Amino acid sequence: MKNGFIIAIDGPAAAGKGTVAPVLASKLHGYHLYTGSMYRCVTLYCLIHAIDITDEKKVVDALGDIAIAFKDDRYFLNGDDVTKRIRERDIDTAVSTIADYQGVRHAMISQQQYIGKEKTQNGAIVIAEGRDTATKVFPDAEVKIYLTAKPEVRAKRRLKQLQERGLVNATFEEILKETIVRDEQDMYGNLGYLVSDPAKYGYDIIDDTDKTEEQTIDAILAVLKKKKLL
Ligand code: DC
Repeated sequence: MKNGFIIAIDGPAAAGKGTVAPVLASKLHGYHLYTGSMYRCVTLYCLIHAIDITDEKKVVDALGDIAIAFKDDRYFLNGDDVTKRIRERDIDTAVSTIADYQGVRHAMISQQQYIGKEKTQNGAIVIAEGRDTATKVFPDAEVKIYLTAKPEVRAKRRLKQLQERGLVNATFEEILKETIVRDEQDMYGNLGYLVSDPAKYGYDIIDDTDKTEEQTIDAILAVLKKKKLL
């Protein structure tokens, strides 16, 4: 069987990765690997079990008790469907702390690489999305996309998502502030897992500030065509 390949999509929070990656996966009959869900599941586990998230050792020790599974874009923590729960605001604000622990990243990256290898060996196109999928998880990915947008636009999208889920008790200004703080943590935290200079890492950069979802997907498909993968 012919091997599949990896499309790695990275970028800051609420840049649109979570919207375009599943659509792209369905268009290409590929497999959507949402890496952020894993960090979110670990965070949720810590919150449920009152594990102090500022205590790196306690968080890393808990990893052995955490089983994360995916099926059809639904996410399971130790067997429970937590798809909706992991997108709530308490997880948004706590997850960067957990994602900044080397032991956590190491475990998550190994699992992501295992899934990527298994799927591509079976001929699938894997659409991985996160912060470091093109740099650390799949440095040999055939396609590397850096999806970004102005913070104000990303905060507006995030607020809309929360409103749609009936979860909003925040103002635009608060969400904008949270978005900017998360950018700082993602790029300049201890481990700096989202690069701030994507051009140096072989990414095709797509700014979707003024793009519709369809235009963003078309821009990604254009990169695939350019690389003769379509
Ligand atoms: O994509 P997201 O916003 O759902 O990701 C949640 C958090 O997980 C984000 O704040 C940073 C972390 N993350 C990461 O460290 N590495 C990834 N590959 C994906 C997400």
